Amino acid sequence: MAKKPTGKNTSGRGQRDLKVKVKTARGRTTSSTRWLQRQLNDPYVKRAKDEGYRGRAAFKILELDEKFRFLVPGARVVDLGCAPGGWCQVAVPRVNALGERSGKAQGFVLGVDLQEVIPIPGAEIHQLDFMDEGADDKVKEWLGGTAHVVMSDMAASSSGHKQTDHLRIISLCEAAAELAFDVLEPGGTFVAKVLAGGAEQGLQALLKKRFEKVANVKPPASRADSSEKFVVATGFRG
Ligand SMILES: C[S@@+](CC[C@H](N)C(=O)[O-])C[C@H]1O[C@@H](n2cnc3c(N)ncnc32)[C@H](O)[C@@H]1O
Repeated sequence: MAKKPTGKNTSGRGQRDLKVKVKTARGRTTSSTRWLQRQLNDPYVKRAKDEGYRGRAAFKILELDEKFRFLVPGARVVDLGCAPGGWCQVAVPRVNALGERSGKAQGFVLGVDLQEVIPIPGAEIHQLDFMDEGADDKVKEWLGGTAHVVMSDMAASSSGHKQTDHLRIISLCEAAAELAFDVLEPGGTFVAKVLAGGAEQGLQALLKKRFEKVANVKPPASRADSSEKFVVATGFRG
């Protein structure tokens, strides 16, 4: 049986030097050999396995939450692009979605993804293309009220063309921000993945109008060779 994640950030544990060298094999391309080697030597991949998370992405939200503290007991959270479920696994214990922490308010976690997700106790998960017409209305219906956190790790699969990928992720991010504007409680938080590349300036300006603070963060778990970063907007003005 899969381990139940601890929900704790154990940064620094499991760090190790690059040790495993993968030989090229018949039928394996150079890029897949490189991917395999990176996976085998990635301390976050090992930690995810050891700590029962479905993927290394879990550590990105753990690290962002350590810094900004938005996943608090009682928080109602929307997780867009949640497959395979690492962010939900982090959010469920932190917001007390299962009501296991007596004396603490019980939160709610709603996850949405294009892909099917193996159920996560404490999270309500729906399969949906968030870019479909009317998708935001469906999410609002499932949410059944307001949210304290809207977070998006949505990313379209890479086209291999940097600018195209960048524009795609920005439109996913803008759609997530629109939902956040509609459902967030005053004081709420919006977290979204963006790729550094320039066209995010419009989004940043929009967020600055609607939130008290807008930070751009690259958590340690985000690979140094990736242009990915996260925008964390706190203090929704309503
Ligand atoms: C990097 S993964 C998310 C990882 C996740 N945060 C976790 O911790 O397991 C990006 C996800 O975005 C989803 N995605 C991309 N475009 C989407 C869309 N239009 N609607 C819903 N999900 C989308 C993909 O299916 C993929 O599962």
